[in-house]
Amino acid sequence: MTDAAPFEAKGAEYQGPQRVFSGMQPTNGLHLGNYLGALQKFVALQETYECIYCIVDLHAITTGPDPKELANRCREVAAAYVAAGVDPKRSTIFIQSAVREHSELAWIFNCVARMGWLERMTQFKDKSGKHAERSSVGLFDYPVLQAADILLYKATHVPVGEDQKQHLELSRDIAQKFNTDHDAPNFFPLPEPLIQGPGARIMSLRDGAKKMSKSDPSDMTRINMTDDADTILQKIKKATTDPNPLPDSKEGLAGRAEVENLVGIFAAVTERSVEQVLTEFGGKGFGAFKPALAEALAAKLSPIAAEMRRLTADTAALDAILKDGAEKARAVAQPIMADVRDVVGLWRA
Ligand code: TRP
Repeated sequence: MTDAAPFEAKGAEYQGPQRVFSGMQPTNGLHLGNYLGALQKFVALQETYECIYCIVDLHAITTGPDPKELANRCREVAAAYVAAGVDPKRSTIFIQSAVREHSELAWIFNCVARMGWLERMTQFKDKSGKHAERSSVGLFDYPVLQAADILLYKATHVPVGEDQKQHLELSRDIAQKFNTDHDAPNFFPLPEPLIQGPGARIMSLRDGAKKMSKSDPSDMTRINMTDDADTILQKIKKATTDPNPLPDSKEGLAGRAEVENLVGIFAAVTERSVEQVLTEFGGKGFGAFKPALAEALAAKLSPIAAEMRRLTADTAALDAILKDGAEKARAVAQPIMADVRDVVGLWRA
């Protein structure tokens, strides 16, 4: 996308504060891929940045979830954020639709983004399948709302999975075109994706070519955040591997996608490098590796699952966190939205 965009940045570099924004869909059944790919990173980023973390219910309605379940799904993800260690005092945690400006800015960005840019989005092509003309306009427009989420807070850094890279590039293109069209250089920053480290892409336990996913029909392909130690051990024991021992260097993982995935998971949960894990386990068999991995996973996930259960049982306390988060989010978003309206020349209502 970026290479095709005709807009060059002009003027001085963006001078505003460094700020992280990310979001997750309100889905039930969070799994290890969500934890390592997103939550654990969200927690770590609090050390360096002002962080705003959102639960994107407006994105969720592009695929028509049950209205009776949506609020509880939002609560479940909010509980996962907090249980994983996102601190609601330090960071902002809120539900997207509680801050109306997300929808408002998305409309303005609809008038900035070009049809051709959206037509190139591979996630829409994947999600809409053969019947694109029957999918909602909202599903097509999903990445524009995502750009609004990020830029409503003038976020500079966005932790996302590999699969969201293209959407991030679109956000940059929208920011740049908005700035250029309105002769407002550096009004919006060009947000940078943060995609890094082991855990960036967690694959199915049964097929190293497929992402770990809650939509896989077999529960044996994934570790759920709420799985107990015994379930984790069973799933890891049955995870696909090969008859060879673990390699002692990274190069030895080439062509062994399932093994690479397990080693990556071990590294990510124990916050070590892949090399360090291979120094410990290189030459050893899976009979030694798998129980150690299962134990590390249970040690990491059990306290988080317990905390999630405690938080979801106390709806009033969780809702108070989200109300407070929405207020903090509005305090950042509303002045930026007022400036956007001025730049665009909208009526001063
Ligand atoms: N599309 C993202 C995903 O599916 C979720 C999301 C919505 C998001 N808005 C965002 C991620 C803004 C980062 C920033 O993972």
